[in-house]
Amino acid sequence: MKAVAEAPCKAIITGEHFVVHGAWALAAAVERRVRVEASEADEMAIESDGHRTNDSSKKRLAPIARVVTKISDELRFNPRVLIRITSRVPESSGLGSSAATMVAVASALTKLKGVELDASEISRYAMTGETAIHGRPSGIDVNVCATGGVILYKMGEEAKRVKFAGSRRFLIVQSGTKRSTRILIDRVSRMKVKYPGLFAGLANSASFISELAATRLVNGDMQELGRLLTYNHAVLSTVGASTPKLDRLVDLLLALGCYGAKLTGAGGGGSVFAIPREGSTDALIAELKLRGYESFQTNVPCEGVKSWLQ
Ligand code: MEV
Repeated sequence: MKAVAEAPCKAIITGEHFVVHGAWALAAAVERRVRVEASEADEMAIESDGHRTNDSSKKRLAPIARVVTKISDELRFNPRVLIRITSRVPESSGLGSSAATMVAVASALTKLKGVELDASEISRYAMTGETAIHGRPSGIDVNVCATGGVILYKMGEEAKRVKFAGSRRFLIVQSGTKRSTRILIDRVSRMKVKYPGLFAGLANSASFISELAATRLVNGDMQELGRLLTYNHAVLSTVGASTPKLDRLVDLLLALGCYGAKLTGAGGGGSVFAIPREGSTDALIAELKLRGYESFQTNVPCEGVKSWLQ
């Protein structure tokens, strides 16, 4: 018998980085999933991309081993499991591939052991792996991968679900440059040390923008939401999260008629999140392809992590 869990990845709509410093941010689950299978084994091991290792000091296994050990210590069961990972989420691309993986691991493992956890407990366990990878993440990524849908998130508070009728369409464009969230969080945090007053003011504005963005999303006012996104990009650029390549990509998307565009996640490369005009998405994806960019459309909301026995 094995347990299977699938978790969506995520996009931050507004407020990334400032959320690490106490601001509200808005995030959506994105329908590209990481699949994890968990089964009993002779030792703790992980298999991903056809490679198997049981060495828990290995970079790739260590954060997952932390999640497995934390869960098995607290819930008192045997950590000797084989974790098999298959992912459709590009790594280091700002789409939360590690968060989705940690959430799916926590969910599959507890399903295998017959324990039912809610989304906040799954997120808490997933965070032990995320912290090992990113240093001091806010927790927004694991929370939205676990709950699905759209959330307004602030550290230390219960996430607010943002609900609306129907669905909203977004475009995610990969810049093609990989980067480390840990390095980006440190870089932006240095701006806080250098300009504490300015940074506090921007964090405050990020909370305000995120709440405004949530209302525009609920009302389906994509044009106004787009304006907020573009403005948020400029702020992220000011605090060091953007790059000339990302700025050019945002510039291109706006020139091609998008209502708004911004980097999403840690920045420094990764992906851009944009709002296409109605009826323009397919042509936009084709145009971007011609210019060397991979992109895909995503409909929000989508379901959070789910698990089952097989
Ligand atoms: C990464 O998806 C979002 C950041 O704000 C980091 C975090 O909140 O953990 C850059």
